[in-house]
Amino acid sequence: MSIVNAKEIMIEGAKNGYAVGAFNVTDLLQFKAVVEAAIEKKAPVIVQTSVKPSQFLGTQLMVNIYRTLAESAPVPVCLHLDHCTDIEYCKKCSDAGYTNIMIDASKHPFEENIRQTKAVVDYAHSVGNISVEGELGTVGGVEDQIKVAEDEAQLANPEQSVEFVERTGVDIFAPAIGTAHGVYKTKNPKIDFERMATIHKMLNGNGIKTPLVVHGGTGLPDDYIVKLLQAGGAKFNVSTELKHTLIDAKWEYINAHRDEYDPGKLDVFVRDATRKAVMGWMDKLGCNGKA
Ligand code: 13P
Repeated sequence: MSIVNAKEIMIEGAKNGYAVGAFNVTDLLQFKAVVEAAIEKKAPVIVQTSVKPSQFLGTQLMVNIYRTLAESAPVPVCLHLDHCTDIEYCKKCSDAGYTNIMIDASKHPFEENIRQTKAVVDYAHSVGNISVEGELGTVGGVEDQIKVAEDEAQLANPEQSVEFVERTGVDIFAPAIGTAHGVYKTKNPKIDFERMATIHKMLNGNGIKTPLVVHGGTGLPDDYIVKLLQAGGAKFNVSTELKHTLIDAKWEYINAHRDEYDPGKLDVFVRDATRKAVMGWMDKLGCNGKA
């Protein structure tokens, strides 16, 4: 019932002026906390796994956790593979039951990016109800196995964005607009809102067909989030914040309870901190109460 791909919930959001939060998780505890936050907020949600945690826990285990949580959740839940550079692993996750796949061939020249992205689109669509995300330009910072120096990050060209989407058939599109993975080095990062709005208009001016993704959610100022929503952002990716929440909450609890050896209590503390962070994002994105 609640198993959905990313495109369908993003289109619903884009039409109704809200965005869907997409949260990277590394373990079961975070996974459960994200889904519980969505249930509490009555919000659609995308749970994301980067390649390393997906391979570490095992593709099928990730999907089994997903199916168990999503099937009983009264809200739509999507499982997304984030920034995968390996076509074969994209195919494996499509077969296993992921419902959104991101092939990240953005480091390659334009034609090769199109070739690889289209190969994954064709495969995922042949498997079933799976949407595919592609990226053009490069997002600075570090995300899992991908590292891009800030001064080498390249923004997406609007005309090329349209060509990329048309030729690959991607369902959702991540144009690089200056956002970055990790913690922003300045309070006011330089984001090209206009570029985002132009690409959105060119792709979706006659009705939402290819909703847009905002990478690098952690640390974006609130007014930037509002502007990005207005410019067409329909999925906001948040990873570093949840990693910090996980580690910081563990430190905090252990420091305060140095003589206690009850992992269950530590888990509850971490879960609650994660839920709080996720629910905060849902309020900012306006997706609370929308499921
Ligand atoms: P942050 O780590 O900056 O939140 O970015 C997440 C992201 O874009 C994952 O694809």
